[in-house]
Formats: sequence, C-alpha cells, structure tokens
Amino acid sequence: MKDKLELLRSAAKAEIHAADSVQAVDEIRVKFLGKKGEITAILKQMGSLSAEERPIIGQLANEVRADIEAEIAGAMSLLKDKALNAKLEAEEIDITLPGKQAAKGSLHPLNSVLENLIDIFQSMGFDVVDGPEVETEHYNFEALNVPADHPARDMQDTFYLGPELLLRTQTSAAQIRTMETRKPPIRIISPGRVYRADEVDATHSPVFHQVEGLVVDKGITLCDLMGTLEKFAQEIYGSDTKVRFRPSFFPFTEPSVEVDVSCPKCGTKGCNMCKGAGWIEILGAGMVHPNVLRSCGIDPEVYTGFAFGIGLDRLTTTKHKISDIRLLFENDVRFLEQF
Ligand code: DAH
Repeated sequence: MKDKLELLRSAAKAEIHAADSVQAVDEIRVKFLGKKGEITAILKQMGSLSAEERPIIGQLANEVRADIEAEIAGAMSLLKDKALNAKLEAEEIDITLPGKQAAKGSLHPLNSVLENLIDIFQSMGFDVVDGPEVETEHYNFEALNVPADHPARDMQDTFYLGPELLLRTQTSAAQIRTMETRKPPIRIISPGRVYRADEVDATHSPVFHQVEGLVVDKGITLCDLMGTLEKFAQEIYGSDTKVRFRPSFFPFTEPSVEVDVSCPKCGTKGCNMCKGAGWIEILGAGMVHPNVLRSCGIDPEVYTGFAFGIGLDRLTTTKHKISDIRLLFENDVRFLEQF
C-alpha cells in the first residue's frame, strides 16, 4: 500500500506538471482526490490493515494528499496567471489606431432659424416670452377682437378640446397674456407651436410654428413697424433683400399689412419657389387695434403699438430653399444632417 501511495504521488505530480490548463488540473484533482478518486479509494481500504500499519499508512496517505493538493494549488495559480496574461495581451489596446468618428448632431433647421430670429430681435431690445398651447376662446379669439361669428372660429379650422378650450390657432394669444401682466413699454416676441385643422400637403401642416411680436409704448407708429420688420427681413435673408408692405386685414390690428420679401432664390424674377411671383409672404402685422389694448386695460388714447406674426416654417423653407414643409416634420436624419 505504501508503494501504491508513492506511485500515486509521482503519477499525480507528473500529470500536474504536464497539464496546460486550469481545467486539466481540476480534472487531475478529481481523479486523485475526488470522492471516487484514487487516494480516497486507498483510504477506504485502511480497514483491512493491521493495527500497527494503519497509523503509518494513514499518515503517509495524508502526507501524499497534502503534497498533491499543494502541487495542484501551485499549478493552478501559475496557469491562472498565464491565462490572465494571455488575455491581457490579446486585449491590448493599440493607442496608435485611428479613433472612431462619433456622429455629430446638429440643430433642427427650425430651431437654428428660430435662434437666428431671436438674436435679431433681442439685439433690438425684445424679450422672449412663452405662452400655453392649450388656450381659451377668450385669449385666442375674443380678447383679440375676433367676433364669435368670425369664420376662423369655425370647427373646421380650430381644434376644440371643449366648449371653451382649444389648441391655439395663433401665437397672438401671447399678446393678451403679456399686456395683462406687463405695463408699457412692452417689446416682446413669443415663438411657439400652433394648430389648425388643415390637410397635410407641401405647404400646410395641422401643426406649425409662429413667432408673435408686440411693441406697445407712447408714440409708436406704422413707421416703427415698417423699420423694425424691414431690418428683421434683411438680417434673416441678407442686406440686399427687398421688403414690400401690402394692405391686409386682421381683426386685432388697424391698419393691417402683409409683408413680402423678394424671393431669396430668384430675387423678384419669378421661379418655382415663389411660384413665379418674385415675392414671398413671410408675416402679417399691423397697428394694435384700440379694442385689443382696451381689453387688456391699456388706454389707446395714451399708448399705441404694433404687432406681427411670423410664419417660422415658411421662413425656414424659404431661407434654406426647402421645397416641402413635410421635410421639416418627418425628421429623416439624412435630410436634417445637411443643416
Ligand atoms: N395671427 C395671424 C395669423 O395667424 C398673424 C398675425 C397678423 C399676427 C397680424 C399679428 C398681427 O400679431 O398683427 O395669421
């Protein structure tokens, strides 16, 4: 039995030295020291030994077991180190390789034109104010001098949310909210989303964007309106842009005008973008109607003002020569990346 144990010891050591993986060493451990292993098998036969032999063989068996365990532990730690080093070597980062190009986002064209617009008006002393998209009939229509029988109040044009509540059809509601909370002199713009029950096509969308403007002070005249809006148009489209004022009608202004700019693509010659007209309408404006001032507690005998509503989507499509408004809302990255 002694010889057998010594044989096992040397056999195990030889196998351990030859093993080349953590897994192989573990298999050797099971083979010699496991429950059904060879050393265990010998220990099980101890009962058949004489009383003198038993402690001697028992001691030797324990010694051989400890010896094999130590060998295994040593081999394991060597092989683990080796495996770790191999892994580190394989995963080594080559810092000389070129980096991956990270995709760079950009502002949506509507936002970049809006930022441009805000810069222009802020440089003229305007504040930017916000207004709610869910409005009451009072702010969206009544206080703006739009009577109850006006066609714009028809269910076909306006998304009603209830008898009094609606999705604002124009940012003009922000004029009223501003005049209720601020005293003249007032100089604000208010950009935002507006909603109308329109069919979608190349120039219409049920959701679009406006920028409202309002100036109220003593002695404001139509000349202030014209000078401000001409300056704005030339800052947006370029200093050689021509601006044209046409008489128009809005319930909340008197007199009212519509403002055209010379076509940024053809410069009044006529092309597909301006539909041959040479001019493009970008906003409505006018002198604030005395009824509107009065409805906000401002005395029209003391104060006058002008207001305007710019179509931001039209401003963006004409500035960037985009042929279809839908491109602004589909958010196809291939389109947006160009700006
Ligand atoms: N709210 C008008 C529209 O949606 C645009 C407009 C015209 C706004 C004249 C104004 C204005 O403030 O004075 O068509």
